[in-house]
This record gives sequence, C-alpha cells and structure tokens, in this order.
Amino acid sequence: MDQNKKLQQKIYVKTFGCQMNNYDSERLIESVDKTHKRVLSPEEADAVVFNTCHIREKAAEKIYSEIGKIKKLKEVNKNLKLIVVGCVAQAEGKAMIQRQPTIDAVVGPQMYHKFSSVLNNIKSKRIIELDFDSHRKFQLLKEKRKIFSLSAFVTIQEGCDKFCSFCVVPFTRGSESSRNVNDIKLEIKNLVFNGCKEVILLGQNVNAYHGLDKKGKENNLADLILELEKIDGLERLSYTTSHPIDMNDSLIKLHGKSKILNSYLHLPVQSGSNKVLSSMNRKYSKEDYLKIIEKLRKANPNIALSSDFIIGYPGETDKDFQATLNLVKEVGFAQAYSFKYSSRPGTKSSRQENNEVCLKEKDNRLKELQALLNFQQKEFNSKFISKTLEVLVKGKGKIKNQFRGTTKWMQVVNFNSTKKIKDIEKVKIIKASDNSLLGEVL
Ligand code: SAH
Ligand code: SF4
Ligand code: F3S
Repeated sequence: MDQNKKLQQKIYVKTFGCQMNNYDSERLIESVDKTHKRVLSPEEADAVVFNTCHIREKAAEKIYSEIGKIKKLKEVNKNLKLIVVGCVAQAEGKAMIQRQPTIDAVVGPQMYHKFSSVLNNIKSKRIIELDFDSHRKFQLLKEKRKIFSLSAFVTIQEGCDKFCSFCVVPFTRGSESSRNVNDIKLEIKNLVFNGCKEVILLGQNVNAYHGLDKKGKENNLADLILELEKIDGLERLSYTTSHPIDMNDSLIKLHGKSKILNSYLHLPVQSGSNKVLSSMNRKYSKEDYLKIIEKLRKANPNIALSSDFIIGYPGETDKDFQATLNLVKEVGFAQAYSFKYSSRPGTKSSRQENNEVCLKEKDNRLKELQALLNFQQKEFNSKFISKTLEVLVKGKGKIKNQFRGTTKWMQVVNFNSTKKIKDIEKVKIIKASDNSLLGEVL
C-alpha cells in the first residue's frame, strides 16, 4: 500500500434531499480524495458529513435525530468530527452550531470550495462557512470527475429567483447562477469517455439556465442541449427541475427533434386552481400550463409527463382541490410526486396561515390525489406491455440474476437474465405495475 493511502483519513457521507445534494456529495468526496477515503458507516469514520435538506419540516427534522446518534459515537471516539452541509446548514447553521456542541462545522451549499480546508482545520477549531459564492463553487466543479457510472447527474445551474411563497430554496441556495457551457461540456465528455451513457442535467430551476459560451454569448437550455448532442457516445439526456414559465418554444420543440433527449419531462404544476397558483406566486395559470402540455405533446405525442403537487396550501378549499384533480385528469401524468403543505420558516406563506387546512383534510385530499396519480401511472405503464424497449442497465435487482434499469420514458424496469448483460439491453415488457415494469431479455 502506498504511504498516501495509509495516511488517509476516513470520511462517511450521508445525503438527504434532492438529486443536487447527491451530485454535491459526490463532488465533495472527489474534492478531498487525496486525503480522505470514503467509508460506508459512521462507526469507521474520522469525519462524518451530513448533506441536508430543508424543503419540508420532516426532512429538516431528520437531521436532528442523526446528530443524536453521532453524539453517542463521539463518546466512544473522541477524535470523530461532524460536519453539517447543505440546505439545513444554510438555513439554521449558525444557531445549530451554537446549540449543538456535537457539530464541528457547518458549510452552506455555495461554499463547497472551502470543504477541503474545513476538513483540515476542524481539528483545532469549529468552523462556519455560510456565504453565497457560487462563482468559486463552480470553479471547484471544473476539477475532473473521479466517480463514474452509466448514468450521471451534472449540475448546470444553482439557486432560484422565483420566490414561490412556500419555498425555502431561494434562501438556502441563493440567487440563480449558471455554469459556463464549456465547463459543462468538458465534464460530460470526461464522464462519457469513462463509460457514461446518460446524463441528467440538474438545477433548482434548470430551464432558467443562461450560461456563457466561449465567445461570451449567453446560451439558454435549448442551446446547451444542442451543444451536448455533439458529444459522441452520449446516448441519453434529461434535465430537472423545470419551471413552467421558462419552458420556451425552442426547448419544447427539442422534445420532438432531439436524438438524445429522453421522452420524459418533470414539470411541477403544484395546483390546478388559479387562485392557489396566484397565492403561491407561481407566475402561470392552469391555462398556461395546459397550453405548454399541448405544445409538448404536439412535439412528442408519447412524452411521459411528471409533476409535483402541494396539497393543503393555506386557503385551499375543496373547490380548489377539485380543480387540481380536474387538471390531473385533463393532462394524464406518467408519474408524479405529491406532498402535504409544510410551513417553512422565513417563507411568505408561513406568514399567511390563519386559513390553514386541517391535517385530516390534507390527509384525505392527498390520498385521493395519490390514488388518481397511481391509476394514471399504471395506465401509462400498461401501454408498454409486450413492447420491446431499450433499457439502460443501472444495477442488480433484489433477486439473483435480476437487473434493474430505466427506459427512455424514465420507467424502472426489472428483468431476469442469466447471460452477460450489455449497458443498454433490449427487454420485452411482460407486466406493468404502477411504479415499475417487469420484462425479459430477448
Ligand atoms: N424548482 C422546483 C421545485 C423544487 S422543490 C419547481 O419550481 O417546481 C421540490 C418540490 O417540493 C416542489 O415542487 C414542491 O412540490 C415541494 N415543496 C417545496 N416546498 C414545499 C413546502 N413548503 N411544503 C410542501 N411541499 C413543498
Ligand atoms: Fe422553490 Fe422551485 Fe419556486 Fe424556486 S421555482 S422558489 S425552487 S418551488
Ligand atoms: Fe432540499 Fe435543498 Fe434540494 S432544500 S430539495 S436539498 S435544494
């Protein structure tokens, strides 16, 4: 073993929240790989990192029970250090580190270029890094990738200026900024060179992307996708999460023309009631949303549409909820996520909650919506029975000889094979359930 490896400290990273946190965690590990080796349990580690999410109360609360577990471990291992990063760190970091002696450092999502120096210095002092410096963070992302897989996330844009009245993201991730076209291209070329076939472009507001190219010209997301199409060997591309207001015509048209875009779009609508949408500050009406869907289906009639819904927003009446159900029936989603409204500190809606929907009503509405969405998902998936699809293999299944992958419609497919598996395998679909497909290799 070389001397460097022997001297390496052990780091354990646990990630909560969205795909952007997953990407950030990988980049954090990559940024300290000369000094730190990743381990898979906190018991083995010299440093524990929690990458946290603040989006709903439940997500944020989770972190406090995790910190409790580390407190116990620290009683046994006095040298163990705990670093809290991500959106809870940004929102509550200062108070957290003051109240909780177990925490040695808090680092906000736009300060990850400081991560390596934080790790070096926590032995002697407690550290707070909570500024917003996305420019310097993007510099860190320029370093080559070291973790490779067939399908990879690549963050292209950070932050959000939309200020939907329920949402913490503009406060935890800061204002919108985009990486340069060339930096993104180089990162993806390097991934593809190392075997990656699918890239999922990430941003809190990914279709608000406005990065500069080599000539200093601003590129929108459609321009960037056209550039990425030129990368030899990149077979599949998706982007998430989009805001309806930034779904411009050139991007919509690409869903019909592009050779590599997956036949899938996640376009959160949140509610089908114009009154609620306006109170949420979403900046579009139900009619605007339906118009975008119509254009998307004109470009690509088979596109799988996905969405997010918030149920029980303050002031949501039964009539508003019925409008959401009607919108769902009108669109027909291939999959969707739905959440009970959660009041978040600092947001506009947390100050207008005198007309809060009662918990029982929220539960009932959520159940009714989810039953409809599950039905639509199964209906969408059933259309693929007896078709042969190309499945990008993403790992092994739970059973022996079983594999798991995704289609161009982003459905999960489980299939059996005793033969050697290719990266992209032709699979005949034999059964559909609401959240996956079952198939067999031809
Ligand atoms: N930028 C994306 C959303 C990112 S947050 C967009 O504009 O659509 C992911 C999802 O979490 C949101 O779409 C919303 O449905 C949900 N969410 C955000 N804040 C929430 C809150 N306070 N309570 C419940 N759900 C929330
Ligand atoms: Fe949050 Fe998305 Fe609204 Fe931005 S656009 S404030 S990330 S819900
Ligand atoms: Fe959560 Fe932050 Fe992502 S609040 S959803 S981890 S941007």
